Amino acid sequence: MHVFVTGGTGLIGSAVVAELLGNGHTVLALARSDTSALAVEAAGAETLRGGLADLNILRAGAAKAEGVIHLAFANDFSSADAVAQAVAEESAALAALGEELVGSDRPFVTVSGTPRAPGRVSTEADPLPTDGPVGGRGRAVMAVLGLASRGVRSTAVRMPRTVHNEGTGGFAGMLTEIARLHALDAAVLFRLALELAPAGTSWHAVADEGDAVRDIAAVIGRRLGLPVEAVPQETYGPLGPIFATDQPSSSTHTRQALGWEPTHPSLLEDLENIQP
Ligand SMILES: NC(=O)c1ccc[n+]([C@@H]2O[C@H](COP(=O)([O-])OP(=O)(O)OC[C@H]3O[C@@H](n4cnc5c(N)ncnc54)[C@H](OP(=O)(O)O)[C@@H]3O)[C@@H](O)[C@H]2O)c1
Repeated sequence: MHVFVTGGTGLIGSAVVAELLGNGHTVLALARSDTSALAVEAAGAETLRGGLADLNILRAGAAKAEGVIHLAFANDFSSADAVAQAVAEESAALAALGEELVGSDRPFVTVSGTPRAPGRVSTEADPLPTDGPVGGRGRAVMAVLGLASRGVRSTAVRMPRTVHNEGTGGFAGMLTEIARLHALDAAVLFRLALELAPAGTSWHAVADEGDAVRDIAAVIGRRLGLPVEAVPQETYGPLGPIFATDQPSSSTHTRQALGWEPTHPSLLEDLENIQP
């Protein structure tokens, strides 16, 4: 399949591009800078120059492709305004991509976070949160899934808060700057969703069902020789409420229905590799 990918230079997106190319697909990757274009070309993808705000370019990319995987997001959590701007930019981009695909029956795979189910492990059947600092992302993803009734094979791969690989990425990465997380398992699930998932479905890219934030901090603190102590939520700005909440999720249905099986080390195992 010829696949249009946004965010193909990111932690997860670069793994997705490699996974697609390694499994017989070709990739047209959105690239907003020379550096990004060189990176995706080196990976073996074709480049479409432009950013998430260039809606006509997004439509052109989707029009040329047999499927779309969306992963680009301005991961700027420096202030509430920055988060709101990133969410608005992504929401407009998703709407433009989706409209282009209406009536085509082509796959459109987007990304979201796993939902929280108070007192229990969340599943693929639980709805996405549509409130809070990134609630707009949930609403945009729901709109994409709603395109299932308009001839789009739209699906969402829901990521845990921490996706790890080779020393960067995710919220654990932001906490330590050297956390090691696993994007490679996630990449396989994006490919399977593109190839197999029925319209309107959601999937959980969850390998470690429930690492408590406290346990993650304990390993990081031990490895770095730092004390682990409670701090006010505000220490982490707009992300504070997210860090403060354990959010276990299950991927039982995803594993059974799509035959996905993560094979890389768990987060807590991976964090043991942190060097002081
Ligand atoms: N990593 C995690 O732990 C995690 C957890 C849950 C959900 N997610 C979600 O998964 C998705 C991918 O995450 P990631 O960790 O791979 O992100 P990342 O490493 O920060 O990469 C972000 C990607 O988006 C692109 N991008 C950002 N703003 C753009 C814009 N305005 N126009 C065009 N491209 C733009 C970047 O391109 P450049 O190379 O040009 O900068 C890069 O390819 C995001 O939606 C993220 O919120 C990630």
